Amino acid sequence: MALMPYALVRKILFMFNPEVAHELSLKGLNFLYRLNLISFMFGKTKLKPVNVMGINFPNQVGLAAGLDKDGEYFQALSKCGFGFVEIGTVTPLPQDGNEPPRLFRLVEAQAIINRMGFNNKGVDNLLNNVKRSEFKGVLGINIGKNKNTPEEKAVDDYLICLEKVYPHADYITINISSPNTPGLRNLQFGDSLNNLLRDLKFKQRELTQQQDRYVPLVVKVAPDMDDNAIESLAKTFIEYAIDGVIVSNTTLSREGVEGLPNAEQQGGLSGKPLKNKADHSLQIMAGHLNKKIPIIAVGGISCADDAQKKIQLGASLVQIYTGFIYQGPTLVHDCVERI
Ligand SMILES: Cc1cc2nc3c(=O)[nH]c(=O)nc-3n(C[C@H](O)[C@H](O)[C@H](O)COP(=O)(O)O)c2cc1C
Repeated sequence: MALMPYALVRKILFMFNPEVAHELSLKGLNFLYRLNLISFMFGKTKLKPVNVMGINFPNQVGLAAGLDKDGEYFQALSKCGFGFVEIGTVTPLPQDGNEPPRLFRLVEAQAIINRMGFNNKGVDNLLNNVKRSEFKGVLGINIGKNKNTPEEKAVDDYLICLEKVYPHADYITINISSPNTPGLRNLQFGDSLNNLLRDLKFKQRELTQQQDRYVPLVVKVAPDMDDNAIESLAKTFIEYAIDGVIVSNTTLSREGVEGLPNAEQQGGLSGKPLKNKADHSLQIMAGHLNKKIPIIAVGGISCADDAQKKIQLGASLVQIYTGFIYQGPTLVHDCVERI
């Protein structure tokens, strides 16, 4: 049972601008973690173990990428009930991301628009944080390309990150679906996709042999594709024996938020209004993958029913980001309880 009403915490945090609130809440959470107070204040989730991609997950509900881009807070975040946490997106070199303001709340819609642009301190810094931690849970590391790396050299950035994070991750996510890095989503199509997946799988085989450890590769896709494009992606993932697929990243659509303050901001929309689009992509992807590759479903989970529905549509695991900002650990506990 939660001893601290998250609604009160949120009320205070939402008085600050979104990026300041983000920093404050994570620092506060870390403070509670060091005092061993998180479970006491927000409750504990039940153990509901599942095996997906050869990994034992304590429950099916994970934290989506982007909240802890540099791997500074994942131990504290995992104590909020998540069965796994994904850190990143991290790039080979540090980069500032886009100019603020770049993070916007759409409170009436329980949504967020962000154009952060992979602000992160680089892969080496993230790895130092991971190495320093005593984390025993399931850790996904999400990798991407630097903004200044030309599109034709994108594969090199992913290979650099893959090689570095490989010994420290339980699974690695290849993020080719953020809308905030120019050209990134082009990697989801045609020769660019084939070349990327071929080279990554080759490197994965090499690293498996060298390190005697297989780390699954998961690809994260956008929800802004038509059904034919999703079918073609699914075929390619099966052809290259990709280990998992995350459906989906944020959307460029503004369906469901028209006319609301901040709705016209550029960037990716997440939270409640993303749900139908993400669910549709999930259903189409699941139909074409036909259980050959497991799916991690994310996008618009704001209650236990939403998480349950994603499992019914064919997901093996789910992730949450925006719903967690609006509702805190209670949402995680409810979802774990239900599925
Ligand atoms: C502020 C913000 C930053 C994000 N950064 C990343 C990121 O760096 N990498 C990534 O793969 N997804 C990122 N995402 C997308 C989320 O991981 C998730 O796919 C998306 O928000 C949909 O889930 P939700 O509706 O539960 O938020 C970000 C989302 C938000 C709101």
